[in-house]
Formats: sequence, C-alpha cells, structure tokens
Amino acid sequence: MTARLLDGKKVAQGIREDVAKKTEELKSVGLKPGLTVVLVGDDPASKVYVGQKEKACREVGFKSDLLELSGATTQEELLEVIGRLNGDPSVHGILVQLPLPRRIDPDAVLEAIDPAKDVDGFHPVNVGHLVAGIPCMVPCTPLGVVRMLESYGIDLAGKHAVIVGRSAIVGKPMAHLLLAKDCTVTICHSRTPDLASFTRQADLLVAAVGRPRLITADMVKPGAVVVDVGINRLETGLVGDVDFEAVREVAGWVTPVPGGVGPLTIAMLLENTLTAAIRSRR
Ligand code: GUN
Repeated sequence: MTARLLDGKKVAQGIREDVAKKTEELKSVGLKPGLTVVLVGDDPASKVYVGQKEKACREVGFKSDLLELSGATTQEELLEVIGRLNGDPSVHGILVQLPLPRRIDPDAVLEAIDPAKDVDGFHPVNVGHLVAGIPCMVPCTPLGVVRMLESYGIDLAGKHAVIVGRSAIVGKPMAHLLLAKDCTVTICHSRTPDLASFTRQADLLVAAVGRPRLITADMVKPGAVVVDVGINRLETGLVGDVDFEAVREVAGWVTPVPGGVGPLTIAMLLENTLTAAIRSRR
C-alpha cells in the first residue's frame, strides 16, 4: 500500500489563517505583532528564505521589517543593531538569518538577542528551558513537525522516534520535543555505524542531515511515519533526505519535499512571533 502524504502546505495554511485571525483581534486592542529579520551579506539562498518570511508576516498583518546589512558589517555593529531591536517595544521577534559571514561568531550574536524576542528559539536560555521542560520559544522546524503530526492525529506516546541528524536547529530540539510527547528517542548522526539497523526500528523516522536521498526504502520499517526535513538543491531540482518515490511504497505516512516540513517552519515562526507579542503585554 502506498503511504499517505503529510501535506505540510495545508497544515501551514490553517495555522496562518489562525494567526491572521488572532492578529486582527490583537490589533483591535492596540497591539500589532512585529518581526524584524536581520540579513547580513547576500547569500542567495538566505535571501530567498528571508523574502518568504517577510511575505508571510505581511500576509497575516504583522509589522514586518527586513534589515539588510552589508557583508562587511562587523560583529560589534551587528551587536549594536540587536541591542537597539531589544529595546524597541514595537519589535516582538528578532530573527538573525544564518549562516552569518565567517568573521562573525554566531553564538555571540544569538546570545545577544533578548530571549523573549528569540523567535528562532536558539538562545541558550530557550535551549535550556526546552531541555528542562519549561515553556519557552521553541525552534520553528521541529515545532512544525510535531504540529503536523498532531494535526493528522498521529499518536506519539510510546513510539520509537529515530532522528537522523544532531543539529542545534533541528535534531537536538526535535529530540526534546518528542521526549516531551512520550516518545522513546534515538539520535543518529554521521558517526553512527550501521545507520539502517537503527532506522529500521523507527515507528517515527525524522531525517534532518542534508544528504540527498540518504534514507532508502530498505531502511524504513513498514508502516512507519517518515518525516523529511532535508532541503537539498541539486542540479535536477529540490530533493529531501528521503528517497521519496521508493520510501512511499513502504512507509505508512511520508512528507513530500517540497510541500512537507518547509511550509510549517514559516507558519511556526508566525506563531512564535504572535506568542512573543502577547507575552510582551503580560
Ligand atoms: N537559516 C536556515 N534556517 C534558519 C532558521 O530556521 N533560522 C535562522 N535564523 N536562520 C536559518
């Protein structure tokens, strides 16, 4: 039997409509959620991403600003910009697009953002709160994955979740979110020997390594839920970390690329910004 598709675009659309409705209500009490995206340099992929984020913000009625800084910007100058945004009450969310130019230390920059405005959930305070199980800003992509699974009524409790990838943006926060949903969690990575012996045990397999079509059909347990976080730009087009056409013949559920996890990331950024705006009033 062919796997059912997890339609991230559809789920994201529902979330965006919900955010737009709540934004309308907030505006009637004088609160307009605001997100400022900071882009340093002119990396073409980053430009596409921040353009999508800005458009999404405008569509739900947020105040949306894009600060495009030259690639020659120094770390001190960037920290100064962040300090100004931290102190601006009309800015509820600050997102510094990664990667930054090599001269700039991303950890110093992320730590400078007010944790309450850290809509990426990358600040060490938010990371710590996530691990400790304290409500906080949660990274958008793994949050979107959980939201998508829940919206399809997929029960997570007691499932063996195998995550391939240990990045700070996806793999690690994904593990903590799934633990909080009562999954048994295994994290695999580039140094894991015999990866397939782990992935074949997965009831829920999350691929987030950035290796085109790494996950082949023989690595998937029949009926498993397969979530593909990979976005790999090949000459032939966009492909995920999962060999979609083959895996869909084995899995129970699978996300397409594009149209799977990607749209959820932006939807959760909107939701995080809305949450930050609401909390700013408390
Ligand atoms: N670059 C690629 N993904 C992301 C993300 O989720 N947030 C930020 N700030 N930069 C990114």
